[in-house]
Amino acid sequence: MAEWIDACATDDIEEEDVIRFDHGSRTFIIVRDHEENYYCTDGLCTHEDVHLADGLVVEATIECPKHSSIFDVTNGDVETPPACESLQRYPTRIEGGRVFVEI
Ligand code: FES
Repeated sequence: MAEWIDACATDDIEEEDVIRFDHGSRTFIIVRDHEENYYCTDGLCTHEDVHLADGLVVEATIECPKHSSIFDVTNGDVETPPACESLQRYPTRIEGGRVFVEI
């Protein structure tokens, strides 16, 4: 059953940047876009299980560091192959300067 988890402070992530967030045995990314929006998706690329936290964020997209697939973090969709499977996205909520994710 999904629950809201306190993942990090809003200030822990620079504008247009990403951090890795591990919870239990799972790994996620939290992305801050260019407009103060925060998004959470699975942390591994759907192509070859590479950590996306090492990737490049531009506006609300992240580029995989291995083969450069680009994902739209607002919905998890692939914008650029070789990945063809979307990332699972999770709801986020900001409260008291903290980022909560529902996972
Ligand atoms: S591992 Fe991410 S695009 Fe290949």
